[in-house]
Amino acid sequence: MEHKLWGGRFAEPTAATMRRFNDSFRFDRRLAEVDIDGSIAWAGALLEAGLINREEYEALCQGLELVRREFADGSFEAIEGDEDIHTAVERRLHELVGVVALKLHTGRSRNDQVATDMRLFAISAGRQIDQRLLGLQLALLTQAEAHASTLMPGYTHLQRAQPITFGHWCLAYVEMFERDRQRVHEATARARTLPLGAGALAGNSLGIERERLTEALDEFDAVAGNSLDAVSDRDYVAELLFTFALTGVHLSRLAEDLVLYSSAEFGFVELADAYSTGSSLMPQKKNPDSMELLRGKSGRLVGNLVTLLTVLKGLPMTYNKDMQEDKEPFFDSLDTLDLSLEVAAAVVATMEARHERMRAALDDAMLATDLADDLVRRGVPFREAHGKVGRLVRRALELHLPMRELPLVEYQAVQPELDHTVYSLFDMAQSVARKDSLGGTAPDRVLEQCARWRDLLDE
Ligand code: ARG
Repeated sequence: MEHKLWGGRFAEPTAATMRRFNDSFRFDRRLAEVDIDGSIAWAGALLEAGLINREEYEALCQGLELVRREFADGSFEAIEGDEDIHTAVERRLHELVGVVALKLHTGRSRNDQVATDMRLFAISAGRQIDQRLLGLQLALLTQAEAHASTLMPGYTHLQRAQPITFGHWCLAYVEMFERDRQRVHEATARARTLPLGAGALAGNSLGIERERLTEALDEFDAVAGNSLDAVSDRDYVAELLFTFALTGVHLSRLAEDLVLYSSAEFGFVELADAYSTGSSLMPQKKNPDSMELLRGKSGRLVGNLVTLLTVLKGLPMTYNKDMQEDKEPFFDSLDTLDLSLEVAAAVVATMEARHERMRAALDDAMLATDLADDLVRRGVPFREAHGKVGRLVRRALELHLPMRELPLVEYQAVQPELDHTVYSLFDMAQSVARKDSLGGTAPDRVLEQCARWRDLLDE
């Protein structure tokens, strides 16, 4: 017997092409677990409202648990008419427990059902991504602790700017991914409003206590206050897709740094062989494919966000079948980001910092600001000091000398009282140690931040 949720008023069967177009079971079967959770809670509400008796309630729950097990162990067998996950679960339940299954959908619509399922799924997706982000933060933190005083060039405009430490660079990304975790948390907090009981759009007339449903479905902390909005709101999907896209953009920036840093030109890091690949033609090549893919995956993540926003734009109240198009982009972004974060954490954990190469890329001109600060300490107004040091930088370029080899007379030409102590400024480690403002790159400050993160992340 075909178990269809809506065949009554139709004289003709659905065309095969229409079925292929309409059916969502091939992708929304991922909602099996949460769909069954929602149905068990719903059966409880039907019992409390006196719409089914205890025996029927127990039969429904036992049957639903059997269906859950079939999905979990892969033994669930889909059939032709399984339009979507809701139909498939109910059809199988009917086979397993008989006619009592026909009571489960009392007062419920697939509109409030799917909205509930997606929220439950999104909340658990948020938790999964949060754990992955934490894993990446911990990998970065471990590198930061090991390299709190490893000197490297810091860049603006990808031009050498000032010396920093590699640990400081690592912690910049820890901060970035912490904001992503906060965004995941905030987006899932807004998903915790229960649509179930809103019916198709107008509410239900069967005396269902919606507040009690939030006790059975404890991921929810409130009940949606407007049934129309309850079945048509997909903001939380959009918010999570945005959060995932922004995390992808952050990963692409980390990836780009590491693509550059692992090149022969920079040589600051060595990526593990395990996360690199070779060339089919050039035997010497070791390519940072893991990082290039991370950079590239951000395209899909942004694309999925744009897909959903475009689907939602201009939809009339309330539920429209267009909304079925929220699922594939969401599942794809979840899977893409989950694997990306796992790879990123592994690459970061296994990469080697090459101190000597980082050190060799530091040049004296990167201390020009230190020189200007020194003049400021001697009472020269900063704007003037900037000009004087600029002239020294130009002299060094003209004479093809590093600044520390410029003769003293050159220094005295811009500031007569300078003496040979000026050369002691050309110490990279001391330059970095002087950047000791809170959040600065001085190793003590970096270690202080490492300790703060260790406390926070180990909780
Ligand atoms: N597969 C549908 C979706 O994902 C379930 C809801 C269908 N509702 C309906 N009235 N046809 O949105």
